[in-house]
Amino acid sequence: MSNLLELRGLDKRFESRKGLFGKVRSMMAVSGVDLDVPRGQVTGVVGESGCGKSTLARLVLRLLKPSAGEIRFDGTELGSLSPSDLRKLRRRMQMVFQDPYSAIDPRYSMAEALTEPFQIQGIRLGAAEARAKVADLLGQVGLGSQMAGSYPHQLSGGQRQRIGIARALALKPDFLVLDEPTASLDVSIQAQIVALLEKLQAELGLTYLFISHDLGLVRYFCDRIVVMYLGRIVEILPEPRAKPRHPYTRTLLESNFAPDPTQRRQIKRLTGEIPSAFDLPKGCAFAARCAFASETCRSVRPDLSTDAAGHAHACHHPL
Ligand SMILES: Nc1ncnc2c1ncn2[C@@H]1O[C@H](COP(=O)(O)OP(=O)(O)OP(=O)(O)O)[C@@H](O)[C@H]1O
Ligand code: SF4
Ligand SMILES: [Mg+2]
Repeated sequence: MSNLLELRGLDKRFESRKGLFGKVRSMMAVSGVDLDVPRGQVTGVVGESGCGKSTLARLVLRLLKPSAGEIRFDGTELGSLSPSDLRKLRRRMQMVFQDPYSAIDPRYSMAEALTEPFQIQGIRLGAAEARAKVADLLGQVGLGSQMAGSYPHQLSGGQRQRIGIARALALKPDFLVLDEPTASLDVSIQAQIVALLEKLQAELGLTYLFISHDLGLVRYFCDRIVVMYLGRIVEILPEPRAKPRHPYTRTLLESNFAPDPTQRRQIKRLTGEIPSAFDLPKGCAFAARCAFASETCRSVRPDLSTDAAGHAHACHHPL
């Protein structure tokens, strides 16, 4: 199976100044990420708040420039493209955001919101063509064509997220980055949006990079799972039910919620302090929270190693 997206040695460094005259500090929001995203599959990225998921999403679409590394989309290195070629390629790669409010201009009717992607790309639509496209996009996400004249404040959260998805589909992309698309919604609405995303993926043969902090949801929805901790990939599960080998993934699984909302119950919370991203320890970044940490763990950072089944982990004492 070929990969639609390949990331190699991807780094993103952010710099910030502590106070007005303080020293400039830098931190790696994404560090040394190598990742293949197979065509037609759902690859999940999971990790706690601040581990670099959204930064990774924005790097992948080149909404942010990497500090180092390569992003190859269908064989093309994005950094090698001129701004106009990058804009053209962007038709094929779209993002759905966590907060559909911020993604849609409150002054736009739904018809305007759904035709804006064409304008941005310089594609002219006649009035009848625009109406047909809007009706078709609304239908694809389970909304009636009478919604075309509605404004964002007239919609529910779930309807707004459907519009966010319809907008992402407007230019017939083959790749969607979904950055916590259900995190701001009620549980019952979350399930509807996940069902819609599953249906669209199957019908349109889409490739997804699905970002979430909820390992239960990711296990339900994704074909492969990538686990991040403080900017690095610490484990890749080649299939969603694979047994975690990294202690962090296991703790996430134990502390996470069951995908079935009626069975939700928090089992165990993560303990210990997350090290500051500005001052990472030299060994394993998880050592302060890990029950299995040894002297080696505290002094040598474990590399990501992959077995024959494609299961990768970065741990000196895997489970
Ligand atoms: N533009 C920026 N400038 C400086 N630091 C940033 C910037 N964007 C993100 N960061 C920092 O990079 C780290 C990763 O942030 P990111 O938003 O990618 O995390 P996340 O995994 O998406 O978190 P969440 O689950 O809360 O959305 C955080 O420490 C964040 O404060
Ligand atoms: S390398 Fe050591 S500290 Fe890090 S997760 Fe593995 S056992 Fe725990
Ligand atoms: Mg985020």
